[in-house]
Amino acid sequence: MNPYLPFPVRIDEINIATEDKSLKTFKFIFLNKDDETKFAYQAGQFAELSIPGKGEIPIGIASSPVEKGFVTFTVNRAGLVTTHLHKMKVGDIMGIRGPLGNCYPWEMLEGKNILIIGGGFAFTTLRSSIIYLLHPDNRSKFGDINVVYGARSPGMLLYREELSEWEKRDDINMHITVDGTDDPDWKYNIGFVPTIVEQKAPHGDADTFAIICGPPIMIKFTQPVLEKLGYDHDHIIMSLENRMKCGIGMCGRCNIGKELVCKDGPVFTLNQINQTPREY
Ligand SMILES: Cc1cc2nc3c(=O)[nH]c(=O)nc-3n(C[C@H](O)[C@H](O)[C@H](O)COP(=O)(O)OP(=O)(O)OC[C@H]3O[C@@H](n4cnc5c(N)ncnc54)[C@H](O)[C@@H]3O)c2cc1C
Ligand code: FES
Repeated sequence: MNPYLPFPVRIDEINIATEDKSLKTFKFIFLNKDDETKFAYQAGQFAELSIPGKGEIPIGIASSPVEKGFVTFTVNRAGLVTTHLHKMKVGDIMGIRGPLGNCYPWEMLEGKNILIIGGGFAFTTLRSSIIYLLHPDNRSKFGDINVVYGARSPGMLLYREELSEWEKRDDINMHITVDGTDDPDWKYNIGFVPTIVEQKAPHGDADTFAIICGPPIMIKFTQPVLEKLGYDHDHIIMSLENRMKCGIGMCGRCNIGKELVCKDGPVFTLNQINQTPREY
């Protein structure tokens, strides 16, 4: 199979994900049923969204492998291709190439407590992960689950309906936060993600792992907090978003040192990242 050939998909649904309309969630259906089987993915992987004549963009898969019949992506309007995607309509045909990269290390995490830390629109693959972890077939395989998720303001939080459903459950501890708000009805935290991690996250031990995905500035300030809480560097798992072209380890566009983020990652432990040149 030619790895550069995308699967044809139809846009089935488009939802505006944030109040400033800069993010939209696209639900795609594969035109050929067999392609959905070939696109078997795990939480943490990404794909290249391909718009003929415009280009391709790497985007984390926001749907979860336990959700069948469709695949979703939440896309920030950043530049050329994402702006074009934001103008597309339900029923339009385009392509998806993947799944690409590695996933979060689910087998290794079985039996462990998991702290999920997300910021801004990098929460997409963490949404996929939470849906996977909470699925009745999976929840008993994992220990405690804590989630710290932050956005600039309440209207910039993704997946707000799901966040409030997860809030009500007693098998996941949600710590939602915003940088600031003048909403008198806001009942969750106010403060930057690293501060809330320091206040609410469990201490690190041999059975507890942190998964972190967010803007570089958030990662930079969360890392020392996790160290202070006792997390070893091989218990801190990060997903990186380097610039990419091919997405399959051929062009070298995404490297940090000898690691190709598209193929060896995007998921790395902090230990692995420490062994690469300091670009993160
Ligand atoms: C593994 C991975 C997963 C990603 N997941 C998501 C996701 O779930 N949702 C989402 O909205 N975006 C995600 N991104 C980022 C997304 O790929 C870029 O925003 C997109 O490629 C921009 O394409 P464009 O043609 O619209 O912008 P361009 O016209 O190419 O660029 C517009 C602006 O965005 C900057 N830019 C482009 N690519 C990146 C990048 N990788 N990191 C930082 N800045 C960039 C450019 O420097 C420029 O300033 C992910 C990236 C990677 C590598
Ligand atoms: S994007 Fe081509 S090698 Fe990673």
